[in-house]
Amino acid sequence: MAILEIKGVCKQFGSLRALEGIDISVEQNTFHGLIGPNGSGKSTLLKAIAGDHYADEGTVIFDGMDITERSPEFRAKNGLNLKFQITSIFPELSTYDNILLSIQSSQTIWSLVTSKGKSGLDKNIMETLEQFKLADRAETLAGELSHGLQQWLEIAMSVIRKPKLLLLDEPTGGMSPEERRATGELLLPIKKETTLVIVEHDLDWIKEICDNLTVLDQGKVLDDGPVEKIERSERVKEVYTTRV
Ligand SMILES: Nc1ncnc2c1ncn2[C@@H]1O[C@H](COP(=O)(O)OP(=O)(O)OP(=O)(O)O)[C@@H](O)[C@H]1O
Ligand SMILES: [Mg+2]
Repeated sequence: MAILEIKGVCKQFGSLRALEGIDISVEQNTFHGLIGPNGSGKSTLLKAIAGDHYADEGTVIFDGMDITERSPEFRAKNGLNLKFQITSIFPELSTYDNILLSIQSSQTIWSLVTSKGKSGLDKNIMETLEQFKLADRAETLAGELSHGLQQWLEIAMSVIRKPKLLLLDEPTGGMSPEERRATGELLLPIKKETTLVIVEHDLDWIKEICDNLTVLDQGKVLDDGPVEKIERSERVKEVYTTRV
């Protein structure tokens, strides 16, 4: 079943057509990569999916609902989460408290009190910190974590909300090759409960973790399909050899 269906999405900034009739279908519990040269429209598309801005034309169907004109809050409440290129943790709070705040902002106080209790919440947070190799940094101020660990913390802050669909815009930007490889390993287990749409420039990395890829070029879909098909695509090869 498709958790996300994008049909004919267009977005214009002044005279620039950043997205021109994008069609993409993302299957549930898959990792779907979005690649393409700089300025091809990847971040613009993620923002239209998350509601950070609205498509001028076309529809965005998420989990069977037409969310094209729904607020970002509505989308988030229904299980759609976006992590941008820029980290947005709270540097003055501990790693643990960043996760706590993320859960609290996604639930009503009433549901927290009735369903979890403090010990249940604590267990949930510690398990997530362990999953993202942050357990021994629980009390460290988030601002003192390395860049790579800050990225992992931010992904953990999204994952603990158990989103149905998680959008990641260049989550490994600025990471060392070793951190990048480890990020792939950390993400794979979440496929059981979450679908991922992920933007990346490192083609080897994205091919390793994704099931399907969509290639954007100048606001249009150049090609899409399983990773093996895109690897063989002459159109994609041409764009990457001439423009990247
Ligand atoms: N808010 C905006 N106002 C005007 N133009 C914008 C805006 N956001 C993006 N653009 C333009 O839209 C086009 C697509 O930008 P976008 O950021 O989506 O590309 P991208 O594929 O994410 O690129 P990169 O790989 O560099 O992150 C670019 O030409 C960009 O300059
Ligand atoms: Mg971008």
